[in-house]
Amino acid sequence: MPIALSSSDTPEQKLPREAYISQDWLEQERSSLFANSWYFAGVVSDFAEVGDYRTVRGGNYPLVVLKDRDGDLRGFHNLCRHRGTELLEGSGNAGKSIICPYHFWTYNLDGQLRGVPKQAECFPDLDKKSIQLREAAIGIYNGLVFVNPQAKSKESFEAWLANLPELGWPHDVNSPDLQEFDGDVVYEIKCNWKVLFENAIDGYHLAYLHKNTLGGPLADKNVWEATGRHMIWYSTERDGHKNRVPEYVERQADSSWTTKIKGAEEPGYGGVYMLFPCTIVTPSPWSITISSLEPVDANTTLMRARSWSPKGWLSYREKVEDIPGYDKESGIIKSSNWTMPPLETGDFQTEDIWICEKMQRSLQSPSYSISALAHGAGGEAPLTFFQQCVVEALQEKPEQ
Ligand code: FES
Ligand SMILES: [Fe+2]
Repeated sequence: MPIALSSSDTPEQKLPREAYISQDWLEQERSSLFANSWYFAGVVSDFAEVGDYRTVRGGNYPLVVLKDRDGDLRGFHNLCRHRGTELLEGSGNAGKSIICPYHFWTYNLDGQLRGVPKQAECFPDLDKKSIQLREAAIGIYNGLVFVNPQAKSKESFEAWLANLPELGWPHDVNSPDLQEFDGDVVYEIKCNWKVLFENAIDGYHLAYLHKNTLGGPLADKNVWEATGRHMIWYSTERDGHKNRVPEYVERQADSSWTTKIKGAEEPGYGGVYMLFPCTIVTPSPWSITISSLEPVDANTTLMRARSWSPKGWLSYREKVEDIPGYDKESGIIKSSNWTMPPLETGDFQTEDIWICEKMQRSLQSPSYSISALAHGAGGEAPLTFFQQCVVEALQEKPEQ
């Protein structure tokens, strides 16, 4: 089990520089940590009709989640059993069956191979009944669907969730009162996925890098607590009480909708939930965003974000075209498309991307080193906790 996330521990850097820049290291993560993780695949309402599907890349594994003819959600490896072609792309409705585009092998929505063109001539010995798509495990929490490449993962979905059911956010992303903002927003960020993750749990930087945007909280009023391998953020900046609504969120929120979030505490409910290793949930009084990290290579990470707000509130939201770095042609947000200095954008996420890419460049230097980490769960102790989780996950090899 990971170490406790205690403010009395002296935080230390557990991972070597190589962990952030080496392709070999990433391959090790792919064959251990990422091969046996739970990935956000969509929300329950994405799968309203039989045949509705969404693909997701979990580590090295192309996966697909779909609704079968019995109305059950199923997870599969998105690979044809003939010669392995990727079957479905993006999201949509597969119809009554899944047809491989290469040689038209056809599968039922329960994964069973049903049709093989020219079977008698080309595959006289093939027993279709013995061939199914490889299964992946499915878990549903609070209307979110997760998938694990391992059909029988060593760690059950419930064990992975740990105490989230008691500590989770009250937002119901499947509520008809909510409306999704523009589908997936995709960022391509030139840094290792762990640099992004560590920046998100680094409480020490909020008042400094973000002095013109978030402006805090200071490390002593900013706390991460752990449940399982996940970390949840709150702040004690108001009267010393635990509160997941930071002051800047409260300032911006229109409280007229806040109380409509099921179970929300006045004046709303914000926070950051880092679900190990790749999912970030950021509920706020006016929205909820779910982001997934997808390592492309040791120095590049895709971040896909989906957001929901109350209907009629979308005009309050930034349009995707207005996000600094948005490229019209590819639809991808990249720092190479920035048109103004990142610290002048007034966008804290752009500030974070800027610093993460700078960190990644520093990490290339053999003289890179860390002298000390800020104490406390509102400082840099969460980095130690996260790194310990990575170290432990690297030692586990799945069967599949
Ligand atoms: S690879 Fe799918 S039918 Fe041949
Ligand atoms: Fe930040």
